[in-house]
Amino acid sequence: AVSPKIAPSMLSSDFANLAAEAKRMIDLGANWLHMDIMDCTKPLACFILTPLLFPLQDGHFVPNLTIGAPVIKSLRKHTNAYLDCHLMVTNPMDYVEGMAKAGASGFTFHVEVAKENWQELVEKIKSSGMRPGVALKPGTPVEEVYPLVEGKTPVEMVLVMTVEPGFGGQKFMPNMMDKVRALRHKYPTLDIEVDGGLGPSTIDAAAAAGANCIVAGSSVFGAPEPGDVISLLRATVEK
Ligand code: DX5
Ligand code: ZN
Repeated sequence: AVSPKIAPSMLSSDFANLAAEAKRMIDLGANWLHMDIMDCTKPLACFILTPLLFPLQDGHFVPNLTIGAPVIKSLRKHTNAYLDCHLMVTNPMDYVEGMAKAGASGFTFHVEVAKENWQELVEKIKSSGMRPGVALKPGTPVEEVYPLVEGKTPVEMVLVMTVEPGFGGQKFMPNMMDKVRALRHKYPTLDIEVDGGLGPSTIDAAAAAGANCIVAGSSVFGAPEPGDVISLLRATVEK
């Protein structure tokens, strides 16, 4: 059966104190640390023009810029926790080697940018010693990830985005639970992760739909007692 994995999103932590924040979360009972890797931001004019001229070709998957392999490498020296890396980047293949060397544990790429080469990508992730996962944006139909779960070298986790990727602190999209239910029905033992807007008020819906890996940024780091939130998330998934 699938076990709960509570993964605080370090995007909501104090990046200037990342090692201490990571230790605090693990000490409070977190299973994984969720690391959001994003590629470049772009000026407003490019928002309008580049998607038309170069859809998904320009190295800008989301309108935000966070961290990369150097930060993972630094953090790895301070913790042996499972680093659940979520790559919101246009060219995931370019990051596999660097992330593996840096000490990433899981490598989750987006299906929207891996339409042709996903099998090669998954094989490379696995042979580099990381656990492969695939993520899908709110607008992407769940059927698109089925071939990756059923592939010769399959992904070992599906991450269902419950907000548009790019930023923490957004509102949970409850209609994404249809995707989680469909995945859980088809794949009883698959790790299914939900990411975006998860917290005490939305965990019931996610757990009931069948999610077992729970990413939570603002609800954990913004709470007076983050440990209570982590415990509540786990207890709800275990129910
Ligand atoms: C959004 C990221 C999330 C984000 C979640 O693009 O993938 O991991 O940090 O933050 P909250 O839990 O605040 O929605
Ligand atoms: Zn994420």
